[in-house]
Amino acid sequence: MKLRFLAVILMGCMTTLAGLAQASVVDTLQQEYKTAGAGPFSAAKGEKMWVEKHKDAESGKEFSCQTCHTDDLKKSGKHEKTGKVIDPLAPSVNKERLTDIKFVNKWFLRNCKQVLGRECTPQEKGDFLEYLKGQ
Ligand code: HEC
Repeated sequence: MKLRFLAVILMGCMTTLAGLAQASVVDTLQQEYKTAGAGPFSAAKGEKMWVEKHKDAESGKEFSCQTCHTDDLKKSGKHEKTGKVIDPLAPSVNKERLTDIKFVNKWFLRNCKQVLGRECTPQEKGDFLEYLKGQ
């Protein structure tokens, strides 16, 4: 009985902590982008860029962020090349999302190059985060 009670408390704490970690990672990154001259950030712009298609210069294939993350952020996606399952990106269903600065930076770099053929600007990354954090 006592153990179960403790487990419930612990899980409650972990959920709260995950929420806090997500807020602080998004805040920290957006603050960084602002220092670089970007902002204010818009979820609507982030969403627009999220669905925008870009032609890959080499393969001629069209890519958007949805190519791997699908059109429903609350569902699992699939890597377009490797077929590897990608867990949902929406923080509301995946508490681990947007909780690790290094991870976010690494994937922004790779994914922007893949879709846009270049790195994203601080403004674009701030808009993406503004959109994603509300999902
Ligand atoms: C070629 C496939 C692919 C495309 C296209 C793609 N992504 Fe990803 N993305 C991944 C993979 C793989 C991961 C890392 C694995 C995972 O998180 O499950 C990832 C992870 C991320 C993360 C890390 C989230 C976190 O904190 O856990 C962000 C942010 C992200 N992608 C944003 C984008 C954006 C923005 C675009 C469009 C510009 C995009 N992705 C397009 C495959 C893709």
